[in-house]
Amino acid sequence: MGRIIYETATSFDGYLADEQHSLDWLFVVPGGDNPDLAPPRAAVQVMGSTTYEWVLDELGALENMNVWHETMPSTTVVFTTRQLPAPDDADVKFMSGDVADAVPELQRLAGEGNIWVVGGGGLASQFIAAQALDEMVFSVAPVALGAGAPLLSQRIESDQATLISVEQVGQFARLTYRLSYPNKD
Ligand SMILES: NC(=O)c1ccc[n+]([C@@H]2O[C@H](COP(=O)([O-])OP(=O)(O)OC[C@H]3O[C@@H](n4cnc5c(N)ncnc54)[C@H](OP(=O)(O)O)[C@@H]3O)[C@@H](O)[C@H]2O)c1
Repeated sequence: MGRIIYETATSFDGYLADEQHSLDWLFVVPGGDNPDLAPPRAAVQVMGSTTYEWVLDELGALENMNVWHETMPSTTVVFTTRQLPAPDDADVKFMSGDVADAVPELQRLAGEGNIWVVGGGGLASQFIAAQALDEMVFSVAPVALGAGAPLLSQRIESDQATLISVEQVGQFARLTYRLSYPNKD
């Protein structure tokens, strides 16, 4: 079975996006297009609906589904309580409710591959609450936003997260943490 990994870029004060859900601050960081910062190759990518709607909008994917197919090679699972559109023929599935209940189905979809939790921080935190997240990889940009969409929305103690690697990638510090769950059955 693959691993479940939350991988994202973040400001150094812990925001994924600014208050307008913009990533403009991220795209102007020198080295932000470095291939070493590319998202993991995963069999399944999982995101919340705000992130999904941002991606659809950014790619113009509903108007040009080829863009989706070129950019999003893996199965995409979107958590939402709403009915949302998907590009024609795109491998997009919608789920809702308790993440713990969804994990077996996500693992079935991923087979031996990894599951990439794209964000946001609330959804990633639900994977932690379900004791299902194995790893977190944060590419920290030299930017403070002051406010915005948080990297995580729940408390994690230091006996749960172990720093396993630190890498410099251009202007980003790429930090990898392994998670463990001392009280897991
Ligand atoms: N810096 C980066 O690399 C990076 C990475 C990822 C995301 N982002 C950005 O960061 C922001 C993240 O925004 P966010 O944290 O507000 O949101 P998000 O996680 O993308 O979406 C949150 C929404 O997802 C739905 N949802 C979440 N959990 C659910 C569950 N268990 N069951 C059913 N629905 C569920 C709910 O919406 P509904 O039910 O109303 O649909 C919820 O309001 C976005 O702007 C995104 O573009 C940046």
